[in-house]
Amino acid sequence: MYRTNTCGELRLCDAGKQVTLAGWVQRVRKMGGMSFIDLRDRYGITQIVTENEDLNAQVSKLGREFVIQATGTVKERQSKNAKIETGEIEVELQTLNVLNPAEVPPFTIEDVSDGGEELRAKYRYLDLRRNPLKKALQLRHRMAHEIRNYLDSQNFMEIETPYLIKSTPEGARDFVVPSRMNPGQFYALPQSPQQQKQLLMVAGYDRYFQIVRCFRDEDLRADRQPEFTQVDCEMSFVERDDILETFEGLIKTLFRNVLGKEFNEPFLRMPYAEAMSKYGSDKPDIRFGMEIHELTPMVKGHDFSVFDSAEYVGAICVPGIAGYTRKQVDELTEWVKRPQIGMKGLVYIRVNADGTIKSSVDKFYSPEDLKAIADTCGAREGDMILILAAGKKKTQVALGSLRIEMGNRLGLRDPKVYAPLWVVDFPLLEWDDETSRFYAMHHPFTAPKPEQLKEFYSDRKEDLEQVNANAYDFVLNGTEVGGGSIRIHDAEIQKRMFEVLGFTPEDADYRFGFMINAFKYGAPPHGGIAFGFDRFCALFGGQETIRDYIAFPKNNQGRDVMLDAPSRIDQIQMDELCLASTVKKEE
Ligand code: AMO
Repeated sequence: MYRTNTCGELRLCDAGKQVTLAGWVQRVRKMGGMSFIDLRDRYGITQIVTENEDLNAQVSKLGREFVIQATGTVKERQSKNAKIETGEIEVELQTLNVLNPAEVPPFTIEDVSDGGEELRAKYRYLDLRRNPLKKALQLRHRMAHEIRNYLDSQNFMEIETPYLIKSTPEGARDFVVPSRMNPGQFYALPQSPQQQKQLLMVAGYDRYFQIVRCFRDEDLRADRQPEFTQVDCEMSFVERDDILETFEGLIKTLFRNVLGKEFNEPFLRMPYAEAMSKYGSDKPDIRFGMEIHELTPMVKGHDFSVFDSAEYVGAICVPGIAGYTRKQVDELTEWVKRPQIGMKGLVYIRVNADGTIKSSVDKFYSPEDLKAIADTCGAREGDMILILAAGKKKTQVALGSLRIEMGNRLGLRDPKVYAPLWVVDFPLLEWDDETSRFYAMHHPFTAPKPEQLKEFYSDRKEDLEQVNANAYDFVLNGTEVGGGSIRIHDAEIQKRMFEVLGFTPEDADYRFGFMINAFKYGAPPHGGIAFGFDRFCALFGGQETIRDYIAFPKNNQGRDVMLDAPSRIDQIQMDELCLASTVKKEE
């Protein structure tokens, strides 16, 4: 037996017991004739102590991260350490056995390490020994366990779907896998099991779920990985509200069982149009106000050409920053001019603490005009109104980003505060000027609102733009954590959808023939949702970056720096797969 106990387990009540522990050497200290080892494993740290001369000599040979086995007697500590759970005891060493020596690790295995991100990624197995990562993975495990329990209690069946499927790029790019046995042909890795879960509904498995890996070849951000995990769910014989209620139950159970937080009220349901007009985002962070106010009609006709020529003028009122210096305002102006935001400039109105109002457009607007704007924005003394103007959607989105930026700067986005909501009634379609065609805003299997079928069959672009989808997102603290919809289950409507998306019948048949066919054999009304499991875990852990909640994540370039993947493959492998690379060999 390697160990009788873990390093996180022993307490004062164990005093006098003979124990054997095994783990990694966190630290070795010498004080006079005594040696101390902090021995660490997944469960905690236990102090080992000895005064014995031979043992002292053995301990002095230990280095950081050596794997050892220590046998001894548990005793009460002289100086207790309230910071660790085993802090009232120590183990008086009797025998020491080095199971494996270790090289000096390239960074310190401490809560706050001295290693940079790249270095820690290269030695991920060492980084994973640190407490913050251990906690993150423990939280992830707990979440998965709670999700399975809840969904099982609601009659959901966990069913696995294949990873080698057919490429049907819509949305993100597919990762593709060449088939050796079918030269020149490729599988794709699933962006989500969307089609398979719908086919499971056709097959009669009326409540399905899967905690499943998904793959998307898209640009990466803090909350995006090329492979990530979804809690993917589908239900038959349901309407939208049945789905929202079922999954609100899941989310509330997670809050209760994992974070000890109760949500008694139903989650807010906000139409997409309202989210865009008030928050400039389809994933509003409603932990704080600072809502967007439209000023278009009231600012026009004052000879200020920027506002006169703009389709839309809007503002946010930022509390307590009327005292911002010129430099700070200039810096904010530069911030909105960055390419990601794309505004030409920023207009401000200061509502000073003494009640006077000053703005960057005093030339064009009287004090009364400015007061009227301030009132519209609900400004109080000490606030500053920030105004942007351009096209409607662009300006709303820019104001939404500025609102989040100011929320961050003012500390209004406390990660320990949770503000969940559903965003509903998304547009069904999005027009793309570049390719001159519609794209499905969610995916091509999402049903239009039944009361808008007339517009859905119209040939006019304006009518089609009006059609809303029976779709919904779950949003937590400004992050889209889940998305889903009621699906089309009628073969004719599905065909029309492909037509609207610009597929010829042959094209639709080549890509999605199996779906169209399946719908001819008794498809039940159905719908579902998928949650981004990594995002869910990160938010529950109070973080925005999902990387720490994934045991072996990719970096921002989509690389696994530990494995050094992706990498080239041998010519023999290439030949077997009938592949040739157009990339020139490195010199
Ligand atoms: P959607 O594309 O909205 O819907 O994805 C569902 C959720 O998955 C998470 N997510 C990601 N997480 C990490 N990295 C990524 N690259 C990434 N991409 C998406 C998000 C998102 O809300 N099949 C549909 C669901 C359905 O209709 O049932 C789908 O995949 O949190």
